[in-house]
Amino acid sequence: MIVKIGVDQLWEFPVDRFEVLGDRLMLDRIAADLRDQSDDRTPNEHWTTAGRADESMHTMLTHWVGSVGELPLAEPAAIAQTSGEAGLLARTVEFVAGIDAFGIVPQGDTAHALADRNFRMMDLHTLTELSILAPFLADFEKPKLRVLEIGGGFGRLAEGLQLAFPGQVQHVLIDAVPTSLMYSFAYLRARFPQLRVVFSEGEQSWSDVESADIVVLPSWRSEILPVRSFDLGINIASFQEMDLANVDRYFRLLDSRIAPGGVVALHNSRDYVFQGPWHTPENWEQLLKRRTPRSWTRDFPFEVFRVRTQDRTDSQRLHDYFYRTQDLAYFDSAAMPSPDPGSEEQPARRPNRLSRAAARIRARGL
Ligand SMILES: C[S@@+](CC[C@H](N)C(=O)[O-])C[C@H]1O[C@@H](n2cnc3c(N)ncnc32)[C@H](O)[C@@H]1O
Repeated sequence: MIVKIGVDQLWEFPVDRFEVLGDRLMLDRIAADLRDQSDDRTPNEHWTTAGRADESMHTMLTHWVGSVGELPLAEPAAIAQTSGEAGLLARTVEFVAGIDAFGIVPQGDTAHALADRNFRMMDLHTLTELSILAPFLADFEKPKLRVLEIGGGFGRLAEGLQLAFPGQVQHVLIDAVPTSLMYSFAYLRARFPQLRVVFSEGEQSWSDVESADIVVLPSWRSEILPVRSFDLGINIASFQEMDLANVDRYFRLLDSRIAPGGVVALHNSRDYVFQGPWHTPENWEQLLKRRTPRSWTRDFPFEVFRVRTQDRTDSQRLHDYFYRTQDLAYFDSAAMPSPDPGSEEQPARRPNRLSRAAARIRARGL
């Protein structure tokens, strides 16, 4: 059973957290493996050019967590300027403190307290995501929660889950981008020397790796995963960059690997690359569909589903209706938080952030 961590266990991130060296030989091996495989779950062009072994983890951060997500809380001016929203940090901190499921977010001058512990914006996102998920995970009666994450970047959420639920999570990270595979393996191994972190390659079967705490697995090898055996499926800011065929394949993978009663969490922009409706499996009962402070485009819901065995599109329609008529209507209305009146720059939040998003899409040629 998942146990809440104590107040005395407030996270602190090492200053040299991302001083992790790339492994050129490993990267070449993964890239060659990717070229040889026949799977078409391949990354788009942005990802094939973004990651090279000679790029440090620092350079890659912006690709994984965005130009705002990578910023330290110790740099509030940079957060305001890069996001184009003077009040973003305060709004995110308030949100995190408001939903804190673990009782670890300090009250009072929260932003400073977290900045002193080397928090970055992305770590607030991790706390947000885990706090939203915690109530849905509370009643799993098993020694270990089995998590299947697609497109986990450098392992941000895997790190958060291990910090929040030490010794109680087995995490499988699937990715199709060689640099993400190589760095997530290197990062999580360095961050958790006490855990067994493995990279699954070659002809390994599931039984070769199933005793590990963290398994990094190339997407083209995901068929080795046992069916109906995971409790939580995750995709954050990753399906949003894929075409419908790729998303369909990952939905099928999640639907076949998550056990009935298990939970799926998705947090993706729906007005970014592919903008039509997804083929969300009909048997996924929708439990939640809301924006979070990380939602940097208009339509960017955090969605939670419970995997069922019968058609639950009724729940999907219901949550979609509330989302469109409440969250999106709220975003469009003047009720949206306005920039901090004390700030010298008074950026117009919505046009600014949306035009940045559009510029980013254009720059990436997507
Ligand atoms: C913007 S990053 C988000 C990382 C992470 N979820 C987070 O929020 O910190 C997108 C992730 O999707 C992965 N990705 C891109 N294309 C993919 C594909 N076709 N299959 C699997 N993963 C993919 C990237 O390697 C990266 O890990």
